[in-house]
Amino acid sequence: MAEKLAIVTGASGGIGFHTARELAARNWRVITAARHRNDDIPGAEWWELDLADLASVRRFASRFLDGYGRLDLLINNAGVMALPRAVTVDGFERQFGVNHLGHFALTGLLLPALLAGDRARVVTVTSGLHRRGRMNFDDLMGERRYSKLGAYTQSKLANVLFALELGRRTPLTSVLAHPGFAHTDLARTGNPLRSAFLALARLSAQSAEAGALPSLHAATNPEVKAMEAYGPDGPGERRGNPTRIEVSARGRDEGDARRLWAISEELTGVRYRTVTVAD
Ligand SMILES: NC(=O)c1ccc[n+]([C@@H]2O[C@H](COP(=O)([O-])OP(=O)(O)OC[C@H]3O[C@@H](n4cnc5c(N)ncnc54)[C@H](OP(=O)(O)O)[C@@H]3O)[C@@H](O)[C@H]2O)c1
Repeated sequence: MAEKLAIVTGASGGIGFHTARELAARNWRVITAARHRNDDIPGAEWWELDLADLASVRRFASRFLDGYGRLDLLINNAGVMALPRAVTVDGFERQFGVNHLGHFALTGLLLPALLAGDRARVVTVTSGLHRRGRMNFDDLMGERRYSKLGAYTQSKLANVLFALELGRRTPLTSVLAHPGFAHTDLARTGNPLRSAFLALARLSAQSAEAGALPSLHAATNPEVKAMEAYGPDGPGERRGNPTRIEVSARGRDEGDARRLWAISEELTGVRYRTVTVAD
Protein backbone atom coordinates (compact mmCIF):
# COMPACT_ATOMS: atom_id res chain seq x y z
CA MET A 1 0.00 0.00 0.00
CA ALA A 2 1.21 3.51 -0.77
CA GLU A 3 2.58 5.48 2.17
CA LYS A 4 -0.17 7.48 3.90
CA LEU A 5 0.23 11.23 3.98
CA ALA A 6 -0.64 13.54 6.90
CA ILE A 7 -0.46 17.26 7.65
CA VAL A 8 -0.37 18.32 11.31
CA THR A 9 -0.75 22.04 12.05
CA GLY A 10 1.00 23.47 15.10
CA ALA A 11 3.50 20.62 15.22
CA SER A 12 6.48 22.80 16.16
CA GLY A 13 5.70 22.11 19.83
CA GLY A 14 3.24 20.79 22.40
CA ILE A 15 0.52 18.33 21.46
CA GLY A 16 1.02 18.75 17.71
CA PHE A 17 4.70 17.84 17.97
CA HIS A 18 3.93 14.58 19.80
CA THR A 19 1.06 13.80 17.43
CA ALA A 20 3.31 14.27 14.40
CA ARG A 21 6.20 12.35 15.96
CA GLU A 22 4.00 9.35 16.72
CA LEU A 23 2.47 9.34 13.24
CA ALA A 24 5.96 9.46 11.68
CA ALA A 25 7.02 6.59 13.98
CA ARG A 26 4.04 4.63 12.62
CA ASN A 27 5.36 5.15 9.07
CA TRP A 28 3.10 7.97 8.03
CA ARG A 29 4.65 10.55 5.77
CA VAL A 30 4.15 13.73 7.81
CA ILE A 31 4.27 17.41 6.94
CA THR A 32 4.44 19.60 10.05
CA ALA A 33 2.95 23.03 9.52
CA ALA A 34 3.72 25.97 11.80
CA ARG A 35 5.51 29.31 11.84
CA HIS A 36 8.63 27.91 13.49
CA ARG A 37 10.79 25.15 12.12
CA ASN A 38 11.18 21.95 14.09
CA ASP A 39 13.44 19.31 12.61
CA ASP A 40 13.34 16.98 15.61
CA ILE A 41 10.93 14.48 14.08
CA PRO A 42 12.72 11.83 12.03
CA GLY A 43 10.99 11.38 8.70
CA ALA A 44 8.80 14.50 9.00
CA GLU A 45 9.17 17.61 6.88
CA TRP A 46 8.43 21.18 8.10
CA TRP A 47 6.51 23.59 5.89
CA GLU A 48 5.94 27.19 6.93
CA LEU A 49 2.33 28.09 7.74
CA ASP A 50 0.96 31.15 9.50
CA LEU A 51 -2.73 30.66 10.21
CA ALA A 52 -2.95 34.36 11.13
CA ASP A 53 -2.30 35.26 7.48
CA LEU A 54 -4.63 33.98 4.75
CA ALA A 55 -1.95 34.61 2.11
CA SER A 56 0.30 32.16 3.97
CA VAL A 57 -2.55 29.61 4.17
CA ARG A 58 -3.11 29.96 0.41
CA ARG A 59 0.64 29.61 -0.33
CA PHE A 60 0.81 26.47 1.82
CA ALA A 61 -2.24 24.90 0.16
CA SER A 62 -1.06 25.74 -3.39
CA ARG A 63 2.36 24.26 -2.68
CA PHE A 64 0.69 21.11 -1.39
CA LEU A 65 -1.79 20.78 -4.27
CA ASP A 66 1.03 21.36 -6.81
CA GLY A 67 3.15 18.63 -5.22
CA TYR A 68 0.62 16.01 -4.16
CA GLY A 69 -2.63 14.69 -5.58
CA ARG A 70 -4.02 13.38 -2.32
CA LEU A 71 -4.04 13.85 1.43
CA ASP A 72 -5.12 11.09 3.85
CA LEU A 73 -5.12 13.00 7.14
CA LEU A 74 -5.30 16.63 8.18
CA ILE A 75 -4.96 17.44 11.88
CA ASN A 76 -6.14 20.97 12.65
CA ASN A 77 -4.24 21.25 15.92
CA ALA A 78 -2.54 24.67 16.06
CA GLY A 79 -3.93 27.11 18.54
CA VAL A 80 -3.44 30.16 20.70
CA MET A 81 -5.13 30.81 24.03
CA ALA A 82 -6.44 33.73 26.06
CA LEU A 83 -4.39 36.47 24.42
CA PRO A 84 -4.97 40.19 24.90
CA ARG A 85 -7.01 41.44 21.94
CA ALA A 86 -4.97 41.54 18.74
CA VAL A 87 -5.82 41.05 15.09
CA THR A 88 -4.47 38.83 12.33
CA VAL A 89 -2.96 40.16 9.09
CA ASP A 90 -6.48 40.04 7.63
CA GLY A 91 -7.98 41.96 10.57
CA PHE A 92 -9.66 39.04 12.38
CA GLU A 93 -9.56 38.79 16.18
CA ARG A 94 -6.50 36.60 16.67
CA GLN A 95 -7.92 33.61 18.57
CA PHE A 96 -10.94 33.32 16.25
CA GLY A 97 -8.65 33.95 13.26
CA VAL A 98 -5.96 31.37 14.08
CA ASN A 99 -7.98 28.69 15.85
CA HIS A 100 -11.02 28.71 13.58
CA LEU A 101 -10.81 30.83 10.40
CA GLY A 102 -7.26 29.78 9.45
CA HIS A 103 -8.20 26.11 9.76
CA PHE A 104 -11.51 26.67 7.95
CA ALA A 105 -9.60 28.18 5.02
CA LEU A 106 -6.85 25.53 5.07
CA THR A 107 -9.30 22.62 5.08
CA GLY A 108 -11.38 24.15 2.28
CA LEU A 109 -8.34 24.79 0.10
CA LEU A 110 -7.05 21.24 0.69
CA LEU A 111 -10.49 19.70 0.04
CA PRO A 112 -9.69 18.37 -3.48
CA ALA A 113 -6.69 16.46 -2.08
CA LEU A 114 -8.66 15.19 0.92
CA LEU A 115 -11.44 13.95 -1.33
CA ALA A 116 -8.83 12.06 -3.36
CA GLY A 117 -7.31 10.57 -0.17
CA ASP A 118 -7.72 7.06 1.18
CA ARG A 119 -10.95 7.51 3.24
CA ALA A 120 -9.40 10.74 4.45
CA ARG A 121 -9.87 12.04 7.97
CA VAL A 122 -9.86 15.56 9.30
CA VAL A 123 -9.21 15.78 13.03
CA THR A 124 -10.00 19.16 14.58
CA VAL A 125 -8.53 19.77 18.03
CA THR A 126 -10.93 21.54 20.36
CA SER A 127 -10.95 21.91 24.15
CA GLY A 128 -13.18 20.80 27.01
CA LEU A 129 -13.58 24.57 27.46
CA HIS A 130 -15.71 24.66 24.29
CA ARG A 131 -18.55 23.86 26.72
CA ARG A 132 -18.17 27.33 28.21
CA GLY A 133 -18.15 28.94 24.77
CA ARG A 134 -20.92 30.99 23.18
CA MET A 135 -21.06 32.19 19.59
CA ASN A 136 -21.39 35.94 19.86
CA PHE A 137 -22.54 36.38 16.26
CA ASP A 138 -23.27 40.10 16.80
CA ASP A 139 -19.68 40.78 17.79
CA LEU A 140 -17.64 37.75 16.66
CA MET A 141 -14.37 39.65 16.69
CA GLY A 142 -14.86 41.16 20.15
CA GLU A 143 -14.76 44.71 18.78
CA ARG A 144 -17.33 46.02 21.26
CA ARG A 145 -16.57 43.75 24.21
CA TYR A 146 -13.56 41.47 24.54
CA SER A 147 -12.72 38.81 27.07
CA LYS A 148 -9.50 36.83 26.62
CA LEU A 149 -11.00 33.57 27.82
CA GLY A 150 -14.37 34.26 26.17
CA ALA A 151 -12.67 34.65 22.79
CA TYR A 152 -10.80 31.37 23.36
CA THR A 153 -13.88 29.38 24.39
CA GLN A 154 -15.81 30.85 21.43
CA SER A 155 -13.01 29.77 19.05
CA LYS A 156 -13.03 26.24 20.51
CA LEU A 157 -16.82 26.06 20.17
CA ALA A 158 -16.33 27.22 16.56
CA ASN A 159 -13.95 24.24 16.10
CA VAL A 160 -16.78 21.91 17.19
CA LEU A 161 -19.43 23.54 14.98
CA PHE A 162 -17.02 23.46 12.02
CA ALA A 163 -15.96 19.81 12.43
CA LEU A 164 -19.55 18.56 12.72
CA GLU A 165 -20.73 20.65 9.75
CA LEU A 166 -17.76 19.38 7.69
CA GLY A 167 -18.95 15.86 8.48
CA ARG A 168 -22.47 16.70 7.32
CA ARG A 169 -21.34 18.45 4.13
CA THR A 170 -18.63 16.08 2.89
CA PRO A 171 -17.91 12.34 2.80
CA LEU A 172 -14.75 12.95 4.87
CA THR A 173 -14.37 11.37 8.30
CA SER A 174 -14.38 14.61 10.26
CA VAL A 175 -13.62 13.92 13.92
CA LEU A 176 -13.04 16.02 17.04
CA ALA A 177 -10.39 15.51 19.69
CA HIS A 178 -9.48 17.37 22.87
CA PRO A 179 -6.32 16.73 24.87
CA GLY A 180 -7.69 17.29 28.37
CA PHE A 181 -5.24 19.39 30.34
CA ALA A 182 -1.71 19.00 29.05
CA HIS A 183 1.53 20.69 30.04
CA THR A 184 2.49 22.68 26.93
CA ASP A 185 3.44 26.20 25.85
CA LEU A 186 -0.18 27.17 25.24
CA ALA A 187 0.06 29.89 27.88
CA ARG A 188 3.26 31.31 26.45
CA THR A 189 5.12 34.46 27.47
CA GLY A 190 2.94 37.51 27.09
CA ASN A 191 -0.21 35.65 28.04
CA PRO A 192 -1.61 37.26 31.23
CA LEU A 193 -3.00 33.88 32.36
CA ARG A 194 0.44 32.28 32.05
CA SER A 195 1.36 31.94 35.74
CA ALA A 196 -2.09 30.61 36.70
CA PHE A 197 -1.97 28.11 33.80
CA LEU A 198 1.55 26.94 34.68
CA ALA A 199 0.77 26.58 38.40
CA LEU A 200 -2.34 24.54 37.59
CA ALA A 201 -0.43 22.54 34.98
CA ARG A 202 2.25 21.60 37.54
CA LEU A 203 -0.45 20.36 39.90
CA SER A 204 -2.75 18.46 37.62
CA ALA A 205 -1.80 18.41 33.93
CA GLN A 206 -0.72 15.36 32.02
CA SER A 207 2.27 15.43 29.67
CA ALA A 208 2.01 16.87 26.16
CA GLU A 209 2.69 13.33 24.93
CA ALA A 210 -0.39 12.02 26.78
CA GLY A 211 -2.35 15.04 25.51
CA ALA A 212 -1.68 13.83 21.95
CA LEU A 213 -3.43 10.48 22.54
CA PRO A 214 -7.01 11.60 21.74
CA SER A 215 -5.81 13.17 18.46
CA LEU A 216 -3.91 10.00 17.56
CA HIS A 217 -6.89 7.85 18.41
CA ALA A 218 -9.23 10.04 16.33
CA ALA A 219 -6.72 9.98 13.46
CA THR A 220 -5.88 6.30 13.31
CA ASN A 221 -8.28 4.02 15.18
CA PRO A 222 -10.19 1.97 12.60
CA GLU A 223 -13.42 2.04 14.68
CA VAL A 224 -13.67 5.84 14.63
CA LYS A 225 -16.61 7.29 12.71
CA ALA A 226 -17.37 10.70 11.28
CA MET A 227 -18.62 13.34 13.70
CA GLU A 228 -17.44 11.55 16.82
CA ALA A 229 -15.40 13.29 19.53
CA TYR A 230 -12.60 11.90 21.70
CA GLY A 231 -11.00 13.11 24.90
CA PRO A 232 -9.35 11.64 28.04
CA ASP A 233 -11.38 9.26 30.20
CA GLY A 234 -10.28 10.59 33.63
CA PRO A 235 -12.18 12.89 36.03
CA GLY A 236 -13.38 16.03 34.29
CA GLU A 237 -11.84 14.73 31.04
CA ARG A 238 -8.58 16.33 32.19
CA ARG A 239 -6.30 13.29 31.81
CA GLY A 240 -6.34 9.63 30.91
CA ASN A 241 -6.81 7.35 27.94
CA PRO A 242 -8.83 8.38 24.88
CA THR A 243 -12.53 7.67 25.02
CA ARG A 244 -15.65 8.82 23.19
CA ILE A 245 -16.96 12.05 24.67
CA GLU A 246 -20.03 14.22 24.11
CA VAL A 247 -19.76 17.76 22.88
CA SER A 248 -22.04 20.48 24.27
CA ALA A 249 -25.58 21.15 23.02
CA ARG A 250 -24.33 24.49 21.64
CA GLY A 251 -21.69 22.55 19.70
CA ARG A 252 -24.40 20.40 18.12
CA ASP A 253 -26.55 23.36 17.08
CA GLU A 254 -26.94 22.88 13.31
CA GLY A 255 -28.38 26.36 12.79
CA ASP A 256 -25.31 27.95 14.39
CA ALA A 257 -23.05 25.62 12.38
CA ARG A 258 -24.62 26.75 9.08
CA ARG A 259 -24.46 30.38 10.14
CA LEU A 260 -20.79 30.10 11.13
CA TRP A 261 -20.00 28.29 7.87
CA ALA A 262 -21.55 31.06 5.74
CA ILE A 263 -19.73 33.77 7.73
CA SER A 264 -16.43 31.86 7.51
CA GLU A 265 -16.75 31.52 3.72
CA GLU A 266 -17.48 35.23 3.46
CA LEU A 267 -14.59 36.28 5.72
CA THR A 268 -11.94 33.98 4.26
CA GLY A 269 -13.13 33.99 0.63
CA VAL A 270 -12.73 30.19 0.67
CA ARG A 271 -15.85 28.52 -0.69
CA TYR A 272 -16.09 24.77 -0.29
CA ARG A 273 -17.11 23.19 -3.54
CA THR A 274 -20.27 21.11 -3.38
CA VAL A 275 -19.61 17.48 -2.62
CA THR A 276 -22.12 14.70 -2.31
CA VAL A 277 -22.18 12.66 0.85
CA ALA A 278 -22.30 8.99 -0.09
CA ASP A 279 -25.01 6.88 1.58
N1 LIG B 1 -2.58 22.20 26.49
C1 LIG B 1 -3.82 22.03 26.90
O1 LIG B 1 -4.09 21.74 28.08
C2 LIG B 1 -4.95 22.14 25.92
C3 LIG B 1 -6.25 21.96 26.40
C4 LIG B 1 -7.31 22.01 25.50
C5 LIG B 1 -7.07 22.23 24.16
N2 LIG B 1 -5.80 22.42 23.71
C6 LIG B 1 -5.62 22.64 22.27
O2 LIG B 1 -4.55 21.87 21.79
C7 LIG B 1 -3.99 22.49 20.63
C8 LIG B 1 -2.47 22.52 20.73
O3 LIG B 1 -2.10 23.35 21.81
P1 LIG B 1 -0.82 23.08 22.74
O4 LIG B 1 -1.32 22.97 24.13
O5 LIG B 1 0.04 22.02 22.16
O6 LIG B 1 -0.12 24.53 22.64
P2 LIG B 1 1.36 24.96 22.20
O7 LIG B 1 2.39 24.15 22.88
O8 LIG B 1 1.38 26.46 22.41
O9 LIG B 1 1.40 24.65 20.64
C9 LIG B 1 0.63 25.43 19.76
C10 LIG B 1 1.09 25.19 18.34
O10 LIG B 1 0.31 26.05 17.50
C11 LIG B 1 1.17 26.71 16.62
N3 LIG B 1 0.66 28.03 16.24
C12 LIG B 1 0.35 29.08 17.03
N4 LIG B 1 0.01 30.15 16.27
C13 LIG B 1 0.10 29.75 14.98
C14 LIG B 1 -0.11 30.38 13.73
N5 LIG B 1 -0.44 31.68 13.65
N6 LIG B 1 0.07 29.67 12.59
C15 LIG B 1 0.43 28.37 12.64
N7 LIG B 1 0.66 27.72 13.79
C16 LIG B 1 0.50 28.40 14.95
C17 LIG B 1 2.49 26.84 17.36
O11 LIG B 1 3.58 26.88 16.43
P3 LIG B 1 4.36 28.20 15.96
O12 LIG B 1 4.43 29.12 17.15
O13 LIG B 1 5.67 27.66 15.47
O14 LIG B 1 3.54 28.76 14.83
C18 LIG B 1 2.56 25.53 18.13
O15 LIG B 1 3.17 24.54 17.34
C19 LIG B 1 -4.64 23.88 20.55
O16 LIG B 1 -5.64 23.87 19.55
C20 LIG B 1 -5.26 24.08 21.91
O17 LIG B 1 -6.41 24.92 21.88
C21 LIG B 1 -4.74 22.38 24.56
